[in-house]
Amino acid sequence: MTCFLLFILCGLSSGALGKGKEPKEQKGKFSVPALDVKDQQLVLEANQTLTLNCRGRWELSWAFPVGVAKDQESVKVVESRCGKRRQQFCSLLTLTPARAQHTGSFRCRYRHRPQRQSPVYVYVTDSRQPFVELQLRSPDVVYIKEREPLVFPCRVTNPNASVSLVKYPDQPLVPDHRNIVWNSRQGFVVRRPSFIFVGLFSCQATVDGVKHTSKYLAIRLVNKITAVYLNASGPVQALQGETLSLNCTVTAELNSRVSIIWSYPAQANDSASITRRIEKRRSHTLFYSVLSIPRLQRSDRGLYTCHVTSGPQSRQANVSVTVYDRPFIRLKPRHGVVLETHAGQKSYRLSPKLRAFPGPEVIWLKDGMAAAERCSRYHVDGSSLVIRDVAEEDAGKYTMLVGIQEHGLYQNLTLSLVVNVSPQIGEKAVSVQDPGTVQRGSRQALHCTSHAVPPPQVQWLWYPCPSKGLLATPRA
Ligand SMILES: *[C@@H]1O[C@H](CO)[C@@H](O)[C@H](O)[C@H]1NC(C)=O
Ligand SMILES: *[C@@H]1O[C@H](CO)[C@@H](O)[C@H](O)[C@H]1NC(C)=O
Ligand SMILES: *[C@@H]1O[C@H](CO)[C@@H](O)[C@H](O)[C@H]1NC(C)=O
Ligand SMILES: *[C@@H]1O[C@H](CO)[C@@H](O)[C@H](O)[C@H]1NC(C)=O
Ligand SMILES: *[C@@H]1O[C@H](CO)[C@@H](O)[C@H](O)[C@H]1NC(C)=O
Ligand SMILES: *[C@@H]1O[C@H](CO)[C@@H](O)[C@H](O)[C@H]1NC(C)=O
Ligand SMILES: *[C@@H]1O[C@H](CO)[C@@H](O)[C@H](O)[C@H]1NC(C)=O
Repeated sequence: MTCFLLFILCGLSSGALGKGKEPKEQKGKFSVPALDVKDQQLVLEANQTLTLNCRGRWELSWAFPVGVAKDQESVKVVESRCGKRRQQFCSLLTLTPARAQHTGSFRCRYRHRPQRQSPVYVYVTDSRQPFVELQLRSPDVVYIKEREPLVFPCRVTNPNASVSLVKYPDQPLVPDHRNIVWNSRQGFVVRRPSFIFVGLFSCQATVDGVKHTSKYLAIRLVNKITAVYLNASGPVQALQGETLSLNCTVTAELNSRVSIIWSYPAQANDSASITRRIEKRRSHTLFYSVLSIPRLQRSDRGLYTCHVTSGPQSRQANVSVTVYDRPFIRLKPRHGVVLETHAGQKSYRLSPKLRAFPGPEVIWLKDGMAAAERCSRYHVDGSSLVIRDVAEEDAGKYTMLVGIQEHGLYQNLTLSLVVNVSPQIGEKAVSVQDPGTVQRGSRQALHCTSHAVPPPQVQWLWYPCPSKGLLATPRA
């Protein structure tokens, strides 16, 4: 039994036993590439050489620690076909001389399926450089994000290094293996950073009597967009050749980070220039992004959207832009050129159909004179003329003059207004006339004065008086 097991194990690892077994053995083997190191980690000294052999079923590639990727001259990779029938792929990596900043994870992976990989963590010890990352500017800024652990990235070159975390000025924070955890490959990890982790911190290591520090400024990062708006409330109209400028303003809580991206019709041509500005206020931060397109073309018309994201939060604002080839005025009556209204109506609006760009100047004339000056009951509202408390005298010719002076464009439209007046009988206004007593057989004239627009038709009606002795009977 033992022998049998051993036999299979040996067969698997060397692949050199019994020809007949080979295809079967190959099946589950190399589902990930294999490295020639047994341990999950290696410890080297600075100036030594690292060699790693990798073998697999398909073509291989490597992923390096950042410090190696930045320093390609010290790395050499030799690829070859290997295995008994040269059906396998081998890759030999040499790193020389190894440096402290090369410390990190080396991963051999399949080129077509990089998630199938074998890692080894390599420490390159150097007593003069306990921290892997050399701080170029001190302190580095680290952000405290909602529901994310905070990492002070002071990973080290020696797995045994003893490092302490100190809050400025001299408050040590001892790892408790629950919230504050030391990890030589990451640094100090704070799983649930509370407000006490805002401020200046340092990682300290003393090697051969020399104290080394790495400083970090921890800032709480909030993601809170309070408002996003474009400085164009309605659709934007512009002429071809003009410059379009749109201002996207974002209000966010202090310390928020936002990203502003525009989408617009000519995006593929990259024809817009975008400038940004940040203004810090006492209680909030303002972010501006101004998009401008210098010479508008027809193809620039469409929807312009300002997309704003801050962490998981996102908002947007959009505006549609119309680009006209040339300036124009289109003016026509809405319901014919003769209009009717009634005297006594509360108000009447004269509003022909007008479309024009750029915004025209509109003047209304009544019988050739400026309407507003003619009567205080007339006023211009937008491009319409409104008549308040319509009276008979408002009848006449109204002319709308439309002009775009800078482009020398003018148009006019004349409308006739008819004001209908309900019939009125003048005598009624005085008093009910009693014709008095008249002689029988004499001639009597009865008057009725009436007025209306259009002129009224008059009809007389005769009613007999109630029989009360001898009363005169009027005759028409
Ligand atoms: C590594 O080599 C360089 C020169 O090649 C030398 O200056 C340095 O001291 C060496 N480092 C270690 C840790 O031996
Ligand atoms: C780390 O410490 C262990 C045990 O104390 C020791 O065996 C090992 O050599 C040390 N490694 C280094 C790189 O100093
Ligand atoms: C447009 O953006 C600038 C910043 O470039 C800002 O100062 C200005 O107030 C913004 N204007 C409007 C109308 O939003
Ligand atoms: C929006 O703001 C920009 C920059 O401040 C300005 O040039 C542009 O004229 C404004 N656009 C509108 C439609 O108000
Ligand atoms: C991109 O630019 C070309 C040439 O200037 C123009 O013909 C085309 O319409 C533009 N496309 C868009 C989407 O603006
Ligand atoms: C434009 O914005 C409005 C409201 O701000 C929104 O309802 C609409 O869906 C947006 N349009 C597009 C195409 O994103
Ligand atoms: C109105 O337009 C006509 C031509 O369409 C022009 O002859 C006339 O002078 C214009 N009237 C006014 C008051 O501008």
